[in-house]
Amino acid sequence: MNNQKLELFDVKDKKIAIIGATGILGSRYVEFLANKGAEVIIGDIDIDKCNNLSNLMKDKGQKTLPLYIDNTDESSIIKFFSEIKSKYGTLDVLINNAQIKPEGFYNPFEKYTKETLMKVIDGNLVGVTLACKEGCKLFLEQGHGVIINVASIYGIVAADQRLYDGVENIYFPDEKFSSPVSYAISKAGVVQLTKYLASYYREKNIRVNCLTPGGVFDNHDDRFNSQYSSRTLLGRMADKDEYNAAILYLCSEASSYMTGFNMIIDGGWSVI
Ligand SMILES: NC(=O)c1ccc[n+]([C@@H]2O[C@H](COP(=O)([O-])OP(=O)(O)OC[C@H]3O[C@@H](n4cnc5c(N)ncnc54)[C@H](O)[C@@H]3O)[C@@H](O)[C@H]2O)c1
Repeated sequence: MNNQKLELFDVKDKKIAIIGATGILGSRYVEFLANKGAEVIIGDIDIDKCNNLSNLMKDKGQKTLPLYIDNTDESSIIKFFSEIKSKYGTLDVLINNAQIKPEGFYNPFEKYTKETLMKVIDGNLVGVTLACKEGCKLFLEQGHGVIINVASIYGIVAADQRLYDGVENIYFPDEKFSSPVSYAISKAGVVQLTKYLASYYREKNIRVNCLTPGGVFDNHDDRFNSQYSSRTLLGRMADKDEYNAAILYLCSEASSYMTGFNMIIDGGWSVI
């Protein structure tokens, strides 16, 4: 790669597929990358939201493709990539950003059922693995590709359950709220999956990195916000747009020498 000739952070005309593209952060990535000239494939289980977001982008003159995907259904994953292949013939970047919260997700550990555990691991880890597998088939054919898997600080350090002291549990009002075990173990797996694939495809011009975000402020209750914020070095939760630049870096040639890396952006949460 010749840094002299390339605009390092350029994603213009790159085909970037985001799975889990219509939620709090995914929709920001769609907007940000489309504004930079990328052609974003808006992949999500909520097809209405995909269509709405795509129409919003169209009104701004940007090209996006809304595309249904249920990453807990292997045939849906296969169809997703085959539709991308028939429409564009190519895919530059795959971003695995989906998370699932089935019934029972917020159960306390003692009441966690195998069914809920399996569903979360299915969407947060197995589905991500299978999406990487199908995406990489395309990458191998074309000779290049980039994957960004999205984990969480709760996948690299233990959830600080003290943060939920005094926070109302809207799911089980009689019990203390806790951050779920299924989330922690599935997100930890995403970090390891990233390293595995970076090593596996080391000679195939496929780079695989991970983004580990800290908590994003989304109208949380004051008590939680203040307890969470005091646990970070920067003294606050993240703004919804504060991961966009990292996504751009990881999507573009600016990160050409980076693979297998877990980029932790957490306001200093995990260093203390
Ligand atoms: N928001 C945060 O504070 C935070 C912090 C750390 C990590 N993260 C991670 O960042 C990512 C995005 O977070 P968010 O807050 O925007 O999440 P979100 O819940 O708002 O969005 C998740 C998206 O995934 C989609 N989805 C659910 N099941 C799916 C399936 N089976 N197939 C395809 N799509 C499916 C949902 O429809 C939704 O659009 C997640 O992986 C999350 O774990 C978020």
